[in-house]
Amino acid sequence: MTAVLVAHAGKNGGTRGIAEVIAGELRECGLSVDLRPAGEVCEVRPYKAVVVGSALYYRRWRPEAVRLLQEHTEALRERPVWLFHSGPCGPAAQPARVSLPARVALLAAAIDAERTATFGGRLDPATTRGFGRLLAVGRRAGDFRDWDRIRAWARDVGQGVRAHAEL
Ligand SMILES: Cc1cc2nc3c(=O)[nH]c(=O)nc-3n(C[C@H](O)[C@H](O)[C@H](O)COP(=O)(O)O)c2cc1C
Repeated sequence: MTAVLVAHAGKNGGTRGIAEVIAGELRECGLSVDLRPAGEVCEVRPYKAVVVGSALYYRRWRPEAVRLLQEHTEALRERPVWLFHSGPCGPAAQPARVSLPARVALLAAAIDAERTATFGGRLDPATTRGFGRLLAVGRRAGDFRDWDRIRAWARDVGQGVRAHAEL
């Protein structure tokens, strides 16, 4: 069966939740999926395709997701790669499209990754501290992950993976 890696990086579980739903949809497409925290990925060569997702913190990707792209650039270039990031919260979260941080954009170009999807994030005052808590107690607290959009994106990825596998 075609194997796909879904790697995720975040701090408070919101991005992992998105990755879980993506993995579920890919399995529905008949693919075999490994769902892993980005920091625990040692090898990408066993996979026919890779999905990497990170939470956005201060306009940056989580370091473990950046490291994954950096340490496996060559192997990733040889297989289809889809990227997503999750962050925007508040009333403007849904239409928001966030550009890749510069360093990640360079890696995405080197890998020839598909265009990045931006998904709304989740800000929970109970799990955030410091500046995050300030954001969370303001107008941006809540769960802005759009599951229909996430599932639709994952189904597109699934079709893309299958098309590649048939080549
Ligand atoms: C301190 C802090 C900084 C953040 N910075 C950004 C940011 O620069 N851009 C953005 O879109 N979202 C930002 N967010 C929102 C997070 O990306 C969002 O809460 C996301 O869902 C967190 O994912 P996680 O639960 O996987 O850690 C920030 C959140 C916190 C708490």
